[in-house]
Amino acid sequence: MLAQPGRKRCSSIVATTLVDYNKRRPLPVGPARPWKEGGHRQGSIGSHGAACYDHALESESCCPKSSGLILGSIMLVVQVSDSHLIESEDGLLYGINTLNTFRQAVESIGRMSPRPDLILHTGDLAEDGSLAAYRRLDQLFQGLAIPYVWIPGNHDSLPAMAAALPISPKRWVRDNWQFVLVSSKLEGEETHDGMVSPQELDHLRESLQQARHPTVVAIHHHPIPVFSRWLDEGYPLRNADEFVNIVERFPCCKIVLFGHVHQEVDRVQHGIRYLCAPSTFEQFQPRTETLVRDPRLPGFRVLDLAPDGTFETHILRYELA
Ligand SMILES: [Fe+2]
Repeated sequence: MLAQPGRKRCSSIVATTLVDYNKRRPLPVGPARPWKEGGHRQGSIGSHGAACYDHALESESCCPKSSGLILGSIMLVVQVSDSHLIESEDGLLYGINTLNTFRQAVESIGRMSPRPDLILHTGDLAEDGSLAAYRRLDQLFQGLAIPYVWIPGNHDSLPAMAAALPISPKRWVRDNWQFVLVSSKLEGEETHDGMVSPQELDHLRESLQQARHPTVVAIHHHPIPVFSRWLDEGYPLRNADEFVNIVERFPCCKIVLFGHVHQEVDRVQHGIRYLCAPSTFEQFQPRTETLVRDPRLPGFRVLDLAPDGTFETHILRYELA
């Protein structure tokens, strides 16, 4: 493993239409900067993002303090969320062709340099749970040749996902980070609420108990309030307290990623960074009593995860063609 002190962490983007939202300026356009020299892609996830996740554990230290030097490789993860694809290729959802906006997200990811190591979709892949929607999503992601994993959202259909998509693992370790995927899909009720089942809570607890690595947990529903009454009370994670009580007991849990609320969220609570990505479809205005559509551009989240347990993250939004 190479020592690479002083290496820049954020990715450059080779695209004219991407906007670094946090910095509110166009991203630099030009040739890609060189990235990591070694150790970067060891232990591949596999082209279908399914197998080969358990790699040799490299550190006994769960949450090491950063030395200021970055040893090893930075893992670049893209969080995509709430694409809401529909069965008809030409169909519109609230006046928007969700396939087009998702395709632009995929094209933007494809232009990133360095290339991401992993795409994590945090749910509502499809609006209508149709096979056709999942097959299109899979086709577009497969075209990137970047491994991807997913968790279901309230709009998703588990049988259709199982038929059309590669199976996502529930837990894996890579480049000194552990990833734990938790389903909040509530089966058997006509509802958009979420609920983490007792089995999923056990899976979460056991994964964190066993962790010797800084950990990213991903779930679809928002486990913390976003201060929009219609979302917090109308579309809640019913047992958010149980989920939060578990993750906040374990210092190894560094990041909780979620979707569902179609807006950027970045909040620290009891040492955990709670992060939500924008939708690739449409945005909801933050802190409103009722649903108010937000004219902000669609986008996705980028995370640079260093093997010493430190990380950086930002949102990238793309102009609609
Ligand atoms: Fe959604």
